[in-house]
Amino acid sequence: MNHRSIAIDGPSGAGKSTLAKKLAAALGFLYVDTGAIYRTLGLFALEQGAAPGEREAVLPLLPKVSIRMAYGEDGLQHMHLGEEDVTETIRRPEVSAAASEISAIPEVRAFLLEMQRDMARKNDVIMDGRDIGTVVLPQADVKIFLTATAEDRANRRYLELIERGNATDYQTVLADIIERDRRDSSRAAAPLCQAEDAIRVDTTGKTLEESFQLLLRIIQERFI
Ligand code: DC
Repeated sequence: MNHRSIAIDGPSGAGKSTLAKKLAAALGFLYVDTGAIYRTLGLFALEQGAAPGEREAVLPLLPKVSIRMAYGEDGLQHMHLGEEDVTETIRRPEVSAAASEISAIPEVRAFLLEMQRDMARKNDVIMDGRDIGTVVLPQADVKIFLTATAEDRANRRYLELIERGNATDYQTVLADIIERDRRDSSRAAAPLCQAEDAIRVDTTGKTLEESFQLLLRIIQERFI
């Protein structure tokens, strides 16, 4: 049976995961957060003492790593690295930077591709990332490119980190976002870019509910 798929791409902090989660619940789709997969591999590199940006240091780790995605009773995606549930740990800022660096390595992207496609073969998915509409699921039924100004995104990420109890300041978060944008967009392998057939949605100044309603309308129109 063919499953339906919705791709949501865009820079970090545009609201992809919050909105995708809410949309998945409303539509009865499975939410797949692909950034979490890169984060788990980034964490593994850090734990192994390998520089996540160095191809030679990272490639020998690939055959050794065990990454598993599981859905809890809460319906949320949990990431397991070996035996450990690392769902919370991978949200740390140093893991964000490691994920961004490791994701620029082409072999890493190829290594993680099948895991992502497999989820879409077996479920109706709403998948978020950077290259879902362009590389992972080029045949997705709906493609959204979600964006917002760097300042708006930094502000949201800052509030999120504070809420999680991470000590940080706004300027650091903004600088991190700008640096990650630069890295994610300028890499040679599957850079962050809008698919030709994606619908661009700018969430700057919109409340979560406004963005949610807008996306829901776009998606429902496609499926009717
Ligand atoms: O969405 P996120 O912030 O959790 O993603 C973490 C990093 O992983 C991000 O800086 C870029 C990378 N990534 C990617 O290259 N491709 C994806 N499909 C998802 C994330």
